[in-house]
Amino acid sequence: MEKIKLFTPATIANVSCGFDVLGLCLDTIGDEMIIRKTNKKGVRITKIVGQNLPLEIEQNVAGVAVLALLEKVDTPYGFEIEIYKNIKPGSGIGSSAASAAGAVFGVNKLLDEPFSLQELIPFAMEGEKLASGTAHADNVAPALLGGFTLIRSYNPLDIIKINNPKELFATVIHPQIEVKTADARAVLKKKVTLKETVVQLGNLGGLISGLYTEDYNLIGRSLHDEIVEPSRSILIPEFDNVIAAAKKTGALGGGISGSGPSIFALSKGKLTAEKVGLAMAKTYKNLQIDFDIHVSKVNANGIKTL
Ligand code: HSE
Repeated sequence: MEKIKLFTPATIANVSCGFDVLGLCLDTIGDEMIIRKTNKKGVRITKIVGQNLPLEIEQNVAGVAVLALLEKVDTPYGFEIEIYKNIKPGSGIGSSAASAAGAVFGVNKLLDEPFSLQELIPFAMEGEKLASGTAHADNVAPALLGGFTLIRSYNPLDIIKINNPKELFATVIHPQIEVKTADARAVLKKKVTLKETVVQLGNLGGLISGLYTEDYNLIGRSLHDEIVEPSRSILIPEFDNVIAAAKKTGALGGGISGSGPSIFALSKGKLTAEKVGLAMAKTYKNLQIDFDIHVSKVNANGIKTL
């Protein structure tokens, strides 16, 4: 294979109570990439459409992720990457992860898959490190593996794909303001109390259990973030009202998508998820802030070739 075209999806990290450890994959929004194998060694980003991002390899999340991969494999080939960005950087739905994960997925395919999807995750995490200062895996893992993923451990890396309830849909409102992940991490408190930890552990356990047993009410009860959301939600206009409107319309629950400013809700069934989108939009209608609404089932498969 000399060339590959990919759809590389947006993702929701944290999923409320799983800061840095839980993520899910979306399927109605994502970037496209074209990657070519060349006889000239090295990596080149030849085109970025849709966003103003650096073409220099060391400054581009896709570039550093591929460099990390190429350090671990002996190949006479080089790669040229074109990126068609639909996911805005700083949106909270995994823009950097889509680029980094897509790039390593594509290069791996063109090399006849020397690495498994799991093995690609640490390379993609190098892109996250460049973007936010932290090599978190809760966007790149669901982008590569699909569905819901849990990072059981960072050191050593231990990532588990968990059950994806069939009728679960996500609704996302993306206000057109930029919140950089690095800034959203800087506002986090450095210490948590035992009491807060107990609440968070209960909810994370409840959410994982609810996902496996497909107990939608349990999923809803567990979508609560005691630790991170209180510090970050103040950066997001109408956060509490959006969540309240979503729940009133039938959503199981919701929270900040990744590091924001996007807000997500989970619902049982597409119809409810669409109504939730309308309710979210109504909440934002009188603000002077543009926004997008996305409704998506949880994407069980992750990145796909086109
Ligand atoms: N877990 C990361 C954070 C996700 O919340 O900072 C960023 O998308």
